[in-house]
Amino acid sequence: MSKGLEYLLRPRSVAVIGASRNPEKIGYQVVRNLLEGGFPKERIYPINPHADEILGLKCYPSILDVPYDVDLAVVVVPAPAVPSVLEEAGKKGVKAVAVITSGFKEIGNYELESKLVEIAKRYGMRLLGPNIVGICDTVKKVNASFCQGLPNPGEVAFITQSGALGIALVGWTKLKGIGLSDLVSLGNKADVDEVDLLEFFEEDNSTRVITAYLEGISNGPRFMEVARRVARKKPIIVLKAGRGARTAGAIKSHTGSLAGSFAAYEAAFKQSGVILADSFIDLFDWAVALAKSQLPSGENTVILTNGGGAGIMATDAAEKWGIRLMDIPSDLAEKLRKHMPPFGSVFNPVDLTGMADAEQYMGAMKDLLLDPRVDAIAVLYCHTAITNPSEIAQAIIRAIRETGVSKTVVASFIGGEEVSQACSQLTESGVPCYESPEKAMAALGVLYKYVRIRERLERRTFVSVDADPDKARELVRRVIKEGRYVLTPAEAARLVSYYGIPVLQKTLVSSSDEALRVAREIGYPVVLEVESPDILHKSDVGGIVVGVDSDEAVIEAYNRIMDSVSRKAPNARVIGIIVRKMAEKGKEVVIGVHRDPVFGPLVMVGSGGVLVELLKDVSFRVAPLALEDAVEMLEETKIYQVLKGYRGEQPSDIESVVNALIRLSRLALDIPEIEDIDINPFFVYEKGKGALAVDVKVTLRKID
Ligand code: COA
Repeated sequence: MSKGLEYLLRPRSVAVIGASRNPEKIGYQVVRNLLEGGFPKERIYPINPHADEILGLKCYPSILDVPYDVDLAVVVVPAPAVPSVLEEAGKKGVKAVAVITSGFKEIGNYELESKLVEIAKRYGMRLLGPNIVGICDTVKKVNASFCQGLPNPGEVAFITQSGALGIALVGWTKLKGIGLSDLVSLGNKADVDEVDLLEFFEEDNSTRVITAYLEGISNGPRFMEVARRVARKKPIIVLKAGRGARTAGAIKSHTGSLAGSFAAYEAAFKQSGVILADSFIDLFDWAVALAKSQLPSGENTVILTNGGGAGIMATDAAEKWGIRLMDIPSDLAEKLRKHMPPFGSVFNPVDLTGMADAEQYMGAMKDLLLDPRVDAIAVLYCHTAITNPSEIAQAIIRAIRETGVSKTVVASFIGGEEVSQACSQLTESGVPCYESPEKAMAALGVLYKYVRIRERLERRTFVSVDADPDKARELVRRVIKEGRYVLTPAEAARLVSYYGIPVLQKTLVSSSDEALRVAREIGYPVVLEVESPDILHKSDVGGIVVGVDSDEAVIEAYNRIMDSVSRKAPNARVIGIIVRKMAEKGKEVVIGVHRDPVFGPLVMVGSGGVLVELLKDVSFRVAPLALEDAVEMLEETKIYQVLKGYRGEQPSDIESVVNALIRLSRLALDIPEIEDIDINPFFVYEKGKGALAVDVKVTLRKID
């Protein structure tokens, strides 16, 4: 368990420093909330030098005057006074502090905030905030916040980086009947951050699902490591705000320009088993399903409905979520037929028709529950004038109880006021119920997703890479020493070849004689191309000649390029001419790395060639890549279908791509000076014939 967080989130006693007698002040509201939330009043200690009593509780001038042990001190004094009250709390032996006060890092007051951290560290206190709404813990009934009341008790922990959203969601979750174990506001994360809280909730018996609204993550690699461990035990759902923001290095490379910061979050979440939600409504819908429902033990789902339309909507949603609808075996169909009129349907969706009553729902439910071939049931109800939703909800609950079978069941009760109570009853009884078939199927889809996440997290294979990191390091450091941050094509090719990536060797020459020697060495045919930092499109200025197949042709091509470039691009700096082997064309793939400020090297794969940015057929993962990561990221792209052998074509050498991705991830991790690598095109040949990096670009960065 994360050190000391039990004092913060499950305190036995709470002091409120800055408790006020004025009902309009936060210092008053916190004391009132603690009392009204049900925390034992003899263990609430208001601190205020100007008051003897607040809300009937004895008030102490300083925390040092409290004659009892204090686990948690909630701080609500103005910012300049916070260091001195923390100092006193430390002297008193307080274990944790939650600083509600604003006016620190969020307004540029870094120095004052570091002072708080320094004091807390010195006294071994954990510090939540500053700039928070506080903590709502329904387990120990601690409402140490200025939220309006405690949320309903439940098994979903909610971590929020937005205080206002946290306050608002207390009311909203109550309205929706969603129960929380905790609502914790993170604020400026001066000490306690999202990872500490994940670790706390990992061990907390009152929490089954961990949810969070996050704007940013403080330490990407640590988050991934902890989330990966926690997600194997408990589901984690995150709503990540700020999708549009792009990283600073965005324009430097294909990889950089495609890797907005959100791509890094998406990749990191996938790799660490975090479920990403698009809205807080989805987040809580899914959290309820994961907290209440049994996980499916197999892939066979049956939809049971009283309305054809609802059944079709659920079928469409099933396809979207990759839920497999079972073909109903004839013996089961025979049984189901007994619970419906002749015009009902025993195909999946099983349609009991609009006349279906509680007894028919119960009969069909029992048959489905008792059949071991059925793994999950989505039960839908459309309200009609001749049916009673509460009776039908009860019938579903009784069917589960009487059969004693624990199977995944989700529900959707569609209608107005009449169905809302029935829906809540179902949810309470472990059948998460939603207002639409799509939502119910999404919830079921997330249950399946979590099953797959757990399986995937168990299987992570790291393959070792034979590489020459010393040579790579030496090359990079030499270039930086020369004051350069962009490698020449020849250097870039060499760098990736040290990590075993098959690369087209490029040799830079500065005379036609030298070109001739190199061409003979690598063998005809060769390509000659101008090397200049000022020429982007070489063919436009006659800067490239392909298919050069004799000694005479080399001399001729060399002179032709020099002549053409000096006429068409007279101001361009010409570094020399590159001589390279003529590569056989393969399927064009792009692979690359972009260093993300939060998560580190982000590896990319996708459709290569000149249309990379237009097609945006790319996928990302954070380094280091497990074998499964490399395979999965490739499978997410459309180019993967081409590589598999599209429309009767021979399959390509997919293994070479997977291999190159793993090697690239290793290279970027070993050499922290690498900012971006772009390999485009990476030619992939037929299966068994390998691949070739044709154009490699590498940019470096300064590190202190
Ligand atoms: N020890 C104990 N009590 C002290 C104190 C000290 N060193 N210094 C002052 N107090 C008392 C005051 O006397 C006052 O009590 P009183 O009203 O009974 O006299 C109480 O603490 C509060 O101090 P006050 O100066 O009145 O401040 P305030 O209530 O106007 O504002 C904050 C204090 C912390 C609420 C305010 O500075 C703040 O940061 N507000 C923003 C909070 C927020 O939005 N957080 C983030 C949400 S996302």
